[in-house]
Amino acid sequence: ALRASFARKAHKDAQVVQSQFQPQASYKVAVLGAAGGIGQPLALLIKMSPLVSSLHLYDIANVKGVAADLSHCNTPSEVLDFTGAAELPSSLKGVDVVVIPAGVPRKPGMTRDDLFNINAGIVRNLIEAVADNCPDAFIHIISNPVNSTVPIAAEVLKQKGVYNPKKLLGVSTLDVVRANTFVAQKKNLKLIDVDVPVVGGHAGITILPLLSKTKPSVSLTDEEVEQLTVRIQNAGTEVVEAKAGAGSATLSMAYAAARFVESSLRALDGDGDVYECSYVASDLTELPFFASRVKLGRNGIEAFIPSDLQGLTEYEQKALEALKPELKASIEKGIAFANKQT
Ligand code: NAD
Ligand code: LMR
Repeated sequence: ALRASFARKAHKDAQVVQSQFQPQASYKVAVLGAAGGIGQPLALLIKMSPLVSSLHLYDIANVKGVAADLSHCNTPSEVLDFTGAAELPSSLKGVDVVVIPAGVPRKPGMTRDDLFNINAGIVRNLIEAVADNCPDAFIHIISNPVNSTVPIAAEVLKQKGVYNPKKLLGVSTLDVVRANTFVAQKKNLKLIDVDVPVVGGHAGITILPLLSKTKPSVSLTDEEVEQLTVRIQNAGTEVVEAKAGAGSATLSMAYAAARFVESSLRALDGDGDVYECSYVASDLTELPFFASRVKLGRNGIEAFIPSDLQGLTEYEQKALEALKPELKASIEKGIAFANKQT
């Protein structure tokens, strides 16, 4: 009798868990580089989304165990594993969102651009497969240097005749997550309320937090603005140095990427109120790619918010002008790489 009652309780608990995680929709998400430092926690967070019915994990090695492990979580999505180039096309078939954290991370003393030689080729090859197998998917690029890998992806998609700039999204969410955290800490604000737009790119001085546009509005001294800006710009390096050779941000990155995936899925699902900062093809400045707040909808980027770049403080305006040459050079380097290879 005791065993029967225990079984009944276990069954009831399972039903409660299932109803909490009842799928509201059924999207397929692929993670390329899923066995890595970012890939694994990101896959876990995506496995928890009620919007996902199928999670495709791709890597060049070690992905079987990750998938077996995750598949035991009693949340709705199935988990499928794909290893090596031969299985890459099947990992992408029918997918709505592709997230790419494949590639090498920094060690102390390196810039993100030092990763270019290895990661540029990895991104090019993966995007070729995306173009061939799921050209309509939202594409999220995490692999560094993002300032160059997004232009590379755009060129490859153009070469394949399937480029949709509204759906190619460089993931700069971690800069926003960091800015929100640091501002809330400094001003003793409730974290959940704070939202700082971060524009430009994703490396060093190209990361420009628009602190004057923080919501709710905060009053900061010039010194606080300088300190916060520099900390946000160097936050990746802060983690690289703390990890002392064992890589760069993985957990906060997975958290930020999962937020961006969830936003994309909500947009696909018809939510009309989805705004995120992202590094994308843009007309907001004279640069062909620029990170800014965008409105996401079913077809990708639905709108830019030009007013975000109006009424900047003198400090922000100067920083915006100062970042342009570096960002321009990184964009041109990516475009030249992609076109040299054809
Ligand atoms: P990692 O080395 O822990 O994991 C990378 C994974 O990519 C590995 O599992 C590896 O096997 C896989 N991989 C390598 N080549 C591949 C290929 N051709 N196809 C599929 N998978 C491949 O590194 P990580 O810490 O997860 O970082 C990954 C990338 O993300 C780095 O380039 C890093 O700089 C970048 N990153 C970006 C941000 C951002 O804000 N956009 C933040 C953190 C890290
Ligand atoms: C980050 O901002 O943490 C990432 O771009 C990784 C890095 O190299 O700093």
